[in-house]
Amino acid sequence: MEKVITSDKSMTFRNEKYDECYHTKSGAIEESFEKYAKPCKVKDGMKILDVCFGIGYNTLAAIHSAGVDAVGLENDEVILNEIQNVEVPEELKEDYEKIKKAAKDREYRDEKVSIKIILGDARETVKQLEDNSFDAVFFDPFSPKKCPELWAEGFFKDIAKKMKRGAVLATYSCARVARDNLRKAGFRVEDGPSIGRRSPSTLAYI
Ligand SMILES: C[S@@+](CC[C@H](N)C(=O)[O-])C[C@H]1O[C@@H](n2cnc3c(N)ncnc32)[C@H](O)[C@@H]1O
Repeated sequence: MEKVITSDKSMTFRNEKYDECYHTKSGAIEESFEKYAKPCKVKDGMKILDVCFGIGYNTLAAIHSAGVDAVGLENDEVILNEIQNVEVPEELKEDYEKIKKAAKDREYRDEKVSIKIILGDARETVKQLEDNSFDAVFFDPFSPKKCPELWAEGFFKDIAKKMKRGAVLATYSCARVARDNLRKAGFRVEDGPSIGRRSPSTLAYI
């Protein structure tokens, strides 16, 4: 797996099959805080669904911000194993150790946070989750061009079922197909923050 150092000095990887990086080159960890944890107003007691867990930076941003219960969906065991080789900035190391333990055991729990990782195709594994239970969804697949199956109306509908009324889904993309399919699935779509580029991210409410 090719390592890439992004502009905020945090590391990520490039996926050969998709020919895309796991994060924006403008700053991998910055993206996780600014496009996911902060706009979703992560706070103690929230239940978060991290769709496309990857190396777990979005869940890292959440557990660094508050005491939350996170469930990650990921279909690639190789990237989950790579987590053991990821180095994060000093101030995030303690929390990333929790991500490392969760990646190894598929589960981590302490008095403040819990993390569960479900390995498999997110379109199937999402169906195992409890209905009306999530306060926020971090939606972070590869781009709609490279991974269209995850940006589909049907998958957004399945995710919506798992969200509490008024819950928020955050994603880095503002692609037309992403927003159209979110609307068709019943979401109200708004611009999210623009970080590292001119175009906005997306916040979608159910
Ligand atoms: C852009 S990366 C996610 C980065 C991640 N959020 C992070 O912070 O490291 C996209 C991820 O989606 C995963 N993926 C692709 N297709 C999937 C599927 N059908 N079900 C679950 N995960 C999938 C890939 O293996 C990859 O880890």
